[in-house]
Amino acid sequence: MLLPAPPDAVELVVATVVVGRGVFGGRAGDGLAVGCADGASVAATPPDESALDPALVVADPQPPSSTTAAKAMARAGAFRIGASPRSVVPRLTVSARRSFPMVLRSSSFAAYHRVTMEPRLGRSPSTVTQEAPVPDHTAMDAFIRDIPKAELHVHIEGTLEPEMLLELGERNGVELHCASAEECRAAYHFNGLQHFLGLYYAGVEVLVTARDYYELTTAYLRRAHADGARHVEVFFDPQSHTSRGVPFAVVVEGIRRALVDAERQLGVSSGLIMCFQRDRSPASAIIALETARPYRHIIAGVGLDSAEVGHPPREFEDVFRVAREAGFRTVAHAGEEGPAEYITEALDLLKVERIDHGVRAIDDRTLQRRLAREQIPLTMCPLSNLELQVTPDLAQHPLKRLLDAGLRVTVNSDDPAYFDGYLAANYAAVQHALGLTRADVAALARNSITASWLPSARQTKLLAEIDAFVAATS
Ligand code: ADE
Ligand code: ZN
Repeated sequence: MLLPAPPDAVELVVATVVVGRGVFGGRAGDGLAVGCADGASVAATPPDESALDPALVVADPQPPSSTTAAKAMARAGAFRIGASPRSVVPRLTVSARRSFPMVLRSSSFAAYHRVTMEPRLGRSPSTVTQEAPVPDHTAMDAFIRDIPKAELHVHIEGTLEPEMLLELGERNGVELHCASAEECRAAYHFNGLQHFLGLYYAGVEVLVTARDYYELTTAYLRRAHADGARHVEVFFDPQSHTSRGVPFAVVVEGIRRALVDAERQLGVSSGLIMCFQRDRSPASAIIALETARPYRHIIAGVGLDSAEVGHPPREFEDVFRVAREAGFRTVAHAGEEGPAEYITEALDLLKVERIDHGVRAIDDRTLQRRLAREQIPLTMCPLSNLELQVTPDLAQHPLKRLLDAGLRVTVNSDDPAYFDGYLAANYAAVQHALGLTRADVAALARNSITASWLPSARQTKLLAEIDAFVAATS
């Protein structure tokens, strides 16, 4: 509902230029030129509509690729949701790679989850096979999946599944670090945010045409819809595209068209948030902001992401002031790998409305009281935090402690293609690891609506739907 109806497409003359390793449809130069006559919208390479029948794509639960049982356990929601019927007692099958030996850390793992890792990893026959008694988790899994909710923290570039990465790499002539989906996934083991960002920005290079952005966004929206999302607020990183010569207009147009189509076809409303990369200069952020100005009716807000440590929010104080004056709403990643002080800085200097992650709020009681008092939302991303070693295991994740302290905590997926779990899998992982009750899950879902930028009428409607859903499933 945040998105206006698409304006009439304006024909854009798109030159094909070869830039670096890829072939880019767009303009040569700094890539920031907005090639549109009315300054508002463009039609770049039209998406191939014939390939986009929603009925043909079903969001399938993704098996985990982690090589440790602890991580697989944390992600098990991704499997449990939509898993085999309760009466069936499947075999728990876990494979180990030589370089990442499987460690079954907990014997309860086998009893708890019905998991087969092999299909995703495409490995040779398993090295560990166990019978798994099947407890009744179906009710909670269905509750988590079906409860109406919003996703407020997802980077569209982080939804690029290896299969699409390879397809787009081939289509656009971009060389990749991996030759098969299995090989790509095998590299998704990160020792921290910086390590992850290296692969993430490498992956982004396959995105070139508006059609690419359209397909990427459409695939994400179908998965989010299957996970019970009724509304999403999606990040994109314009500098990672324009710095390669892809025009801003191409990126925004491809994403926007997918969001508009999803609202019409799936009933998923949406907002678009443009992130500044904090590991690039404030001057670069200002250029991105000025480029975005004509798209103010399409881009709801701005955010701050990328490598956090050593790049405090205060460096972007002026950028955010100009953005606010231009009418953009504001969020910022803070307290993911950086300290609690970065959260305070983001609030005081950037004057953001939400904090993305905010994990380190757990270190500062005064800050917690402020976040609770002012009801500043935290868009937390449990599986991301696990994969990037922000938390050693989900049982130690501060989400429930902060929820119990009265903070407006929400659950989100961040970069689900890299962290092995979309929205419902993130809910399921923390539900299990932290023993969340149905009331906790419902509170998280409600928070996702009240923390969103939806107009109050739609918030009220979705909150009523949550209440009705909870009552009907009691
Ligand atoms: N960009 C994509 N994912 C991110 C994350 N988890 N933290 C900061 N920047 C990001
Ligand atoms: Zn993020």
